[in-house]
Amino acid sequence: MLKQSIKTCFKFLDITMVRIMSKTIKTTVTVIKADIGSLVGHHKVHPKQIEVAKKCLEVGKNNGIIEDFFVTHCGDDLELIMTHRHGENNQKVHELAWNTFKEVNEKVSKPLKLYAAGQDLLSDAFSGNIRGMGPGVAELEFEERGSDPIIVFMADKTEPGAWNLPLFKIFADPFNTAGLVIDPSMHDGFIFEVLDVIEGKSVRMKCPEEMYDLLALIGTPSRYVMFKIFRHDGLPAAAASTTRLSLIAGRYVGKDDPVCIVRAQHGLPAVGEILEAFAFPHLVAGWMRGSHNGPLMPVSAFNGSNKCTRFDGPPRVIALGFQVTNSKLIGPTDLFDDPAFDRSRALANEIADYLRYHGPFMPHRLGPEEMEYTTLPKVLEKLKNRFKTIDQR
Ligand code: F6R
Ligand code: MG
Ligand code: MG
Repeated sequence: MLKQSIKTCFKFLDITMVRIMSKTIKTTVTVIKADIGSLVGHHKVHPKQIEVAKKCLEVGKNNGIIEDFFVTHCGDDLELIMTHRHGENNQKVHELAWNTFKEVNEKVSKPLKLYAAGQDLLSDAFSGNIRGMGPGVAELEFEERGSDPIIVFMADKTEPGAWNLPLFKIFADPFNTAGLVIDPSMHDGFIFEVLDVIEGKSVRMKCPEEMYDLLALIGTPSRYVMFKIFRHDGLPAAAASTTRLSLIAGRYVGKDDPVCIVRAQHGLPAVGEILEAFAFPHLVAGWMRGSHNGPLMPVSAFNGSNKCTRFDGPPRVIALGFQVTNSKLIGPTDLFDDPAFDRSRALANEIADYLRYHGPFMPHRLGPEEMEYTTLPKVLEKLKNRFKTIDQR
């Protein structure tokens, strides 16, 4: 009798073990960023802010909330790159990021009177999900392949729509990505999820079939923003942050300075195809007072160019590469720290000169719809009563 029940017990344990083992572990990469004050205007994160953030995330790691992390900055934005096994939109992971920003703000930004301390923390209390509270979030959950290289892009002095053009080139333009033509596993294209940030609705579109419809939307990057990208078979390929701070706050509180995660290689665009899209420093909205178009300049994260100086810019992008291995981050490697991008930077400087000659004129300065949330309406309000109606016949 006893022998029989021990046997049954072992059989049950066996089945359970097999079930546990066969359940594939998924890793989530979560990147959460916020501008919570910076050194000398809106220029650069203070080293102490990074130090305190690291300590907070170490506690989160020891408590099993996250598996690994890397803390860095892009200009005046503090960037928390984390891996874990709790899926996207996990309350504990988001809360850890929120508490980290709060702690850095209380322990460093406020006492040092850093400029615009706590700027992106638009809410007083955490309410389950950090989305809509100020910080920007990009998350991608996936089953790790045999080897899983990812690139985390982080930009300063621009908005989430800044990724539209490079992401289109990476995943839909065969003149950028040779693999779209050469690699049969990419031949059937990619699915793009685009968010209408004004209406709060999203739509999925498939390329190459719906390429022209997709372009009709994403050519308006202030409204339609690339959010997620999947390969035709559903494999998660990229995720971008979509926060529009001004839409949350109803006024200008700094640009949204987006982040983006892109998976690379083996049936996805190669690292070099992904980076190639940034060799052309396209025009993005942001720069001085979040009110100007300027070229997005690819720069090294660590060689001293990761800070916005000229006219508070020009807008910048950094790229860190990691291998995601059993939910740990191996790396990073500083991908734009390469003389091959020198000419892109030189071109960006030339474009910056050309645009700056326009001073306060459009199209250097943004159009009226995008100036709605800045301080310009206050100036126009002052002039309102001085306008006299004239007969235009
Ligand atoms: C752009 C940005 C800066 C500020 C500018 C004025 O995103 O953060 O260009 O808008 O330095 O800042 P305030 O109004 O704080 O003096
Ligand atoms: Mg700032
Ligand atoms: Mg910033």
